[in-house]
Amino acid sequence: MTKNLKKYYLTTPLYYVNSKPHIGHSYTEIAADVLARFHRLIGEDVLFLTGTDEHGQKIERAARDAGMTPQEFTDKVSLAFRDLWKVLNIKYDDFIRTTEPRHKKAVEMVWRKLVEKKLIYPHTYDGWYCTPDEYFFTEGFADGFVEGKAICPECKRPAEKIREDNYFFKLSEDREWLINEIRSGANIKILPETRQNEVLGFLENNELQDLCISRPKNRLAWGIPLPAEISKDHVTYVWFDALINYISAVGFGADPKKLGKWWPADVHIIGKDILRHHAIYWTILLKALDLPLPKMIFAHGWWVQGGEKMSKSRGNVVDPVEIVKTYGVDAYRYFLLRETPFGADGTFSEEALILRFNTDLANDLGNLLNRSLTMCEKYFEGEIPKGPPFGAFTYPMLHEGAEEDPRFTPNPIHSEAQGICNDINMLFAIINESISRLAFTEALREIWNLVNRSNKFIESSSPWILAKQQRSEELRLVIVTLCEALKVLAQAVWPFMPEKAEALWAQLGLKGKPCDVPFKDNMWGFFKDGGKIAKGAPLFPRIETKK
Ligand code: MSP
Repeated sequence: MTKNLKKYYLTTPLYYVNSKPHIGHSYTEIAADVLARFHRLIGEDVLFLTGTDEHGQKIERAARDAGMTPQEFTDKVSLAFRDLWKVLNIKYDDFIRTTEPRHKKAVEMVWRKLVEKKLIYPHTYDGWYCTPDEYFFTEGFADGFVEGKAICPECKRPAEKIREDNYFFKLSEDREWLINEIRSGANIKILPETRQNEVLGFLENNELQDLCISRPKNRLAWGIPLPAEISKDHVTYVWFDALINYISAVGFGADPKKLGKWWPADVHIIGKDILRHHAIYWTILLKALDLPLPKMIFAHGWWVQGGEKMSKSRGNVVDPVEIVKTYGVDAYRYFLLRETPFGADGTFSEEALILRFNTDLANDLGNLLNRSLTMCEKYFEGEIPKGPPFGAFTYPMLHEGAEEDPRFTPNPIHSEAQGICNDINMLFAIINESISRLAFTEALREIWNLVNRSNKFIESSSPWILAKQQRSEELRLVIVTLCEALKVLAQAVWPFMPEKAEALWAQLGLKGKPCDVPFKDNMWGFFKDGGKIAKGAPLFPRIETKK
């Protein structure tokens, strides 16, 4: 009988293929990969979906500028994303392109279903339109006027006045429903809380406008055509098409069993710039399709420079490939998630990355491994001391009530080993809690508490003195405690830094990968039967900087 594993379905936004990927895209993707790996590590059945958003005016234009057809152009840039994900060690389960037949079919199904439910109606639009953002807005929403032109509230550029026949999706009546759903939090959570408040504030202070979900073919041809019986002259608005990917990838309109297994998504990871599309348009569309809401939408912050979002159009982007070439993929992954809390904005600098590398990675984790294994070699010929030195493998050896015994004299080495043992046993629960809130920075801080405590234990127990004084039981206890800590650390850091964690695992003499052993509570005792280490090169050789 196959075990019924808990499913976990997470998604990233679909990236626009108008230009090659940069740090901002890699941030969303790495966070999703860490989350997916964590859920695999704890034994869940994971579906990690990512992909590319390939329609719309921006892409049509970029293709024209590159002298290619939109299809040739999107094939090329979509591949560039997949190539970068390989470099960044991203293990997605599915990659969807909005130009794929499976997606187009699902979009057509949505059109038909909504027309049938009378939630779509034709209407002549007469108002402002921001071409780069492909965004319609009424005067009330304009961010002021310059030379008679309304300023787009999204990108702050002047918009054009247009008049055209289109199709609209009824949203306006669902405002109250959505406010109640978000407030109750029973079916959907928007995190961080500040973003949830932002959405609620918007909904409470504005009437919702019905969404224009088509574009006339004579203005924009590069989109998913409407089913012919609805219109032969329109294509689908790119955002409307793109959001549907979250269900088209799991079989909407094609494979109800698959859809039933995976939907609703456990989390949509997005950047804060696209919160409204997800929290308002997407949720109302799901309601219209009689589908449950995603359990969580998490809107992360931006990597900024000089107070501005890094983006290709501003020309201030960091190229992940260059950083990875210099510092390695795991240092880059670690830095992005450690430096800035996931909901907040961050500033990227190589100086900050080098500092993190030399302190957290080289000095703390790298040295802990190196010193522990060197001592294991020196004092025990590389054999992790076998079995608990003091009896049952639930050592350290304090039996219940021992501390109350008047004859008890605490041995600081025993007490500290006990403390580390407790930390090891609780590490899973602590990280699991932080990661359930996508608080990656907090999870890493907790992991590093164990790294630092173990390093301090080396100092406080001074194994070199224990060896000299032939205090072999304490020496064994210290070494095995360090090895137990390192083993659980390899597992805990694996989602963040898979390559280095696997190297650490191998140096502990362990076969396979850290993800082959379930990560759970009470993991002390892994080396109760000893083991033979295989010390190797330092994990993180220090980066020397010019003074
Ligand atoms: N195609 C839409 C999403 C459709 S989802 C159904 C889109 N694409 S995007 O390529 O412009 O952005 C994709 C993701 O990259 C967004 O989550 C966005 O926030 C993120 N980032 C792009 N630049 C960024 C930074 N400078 N910093 C952090 N992330 C930012 O929007």
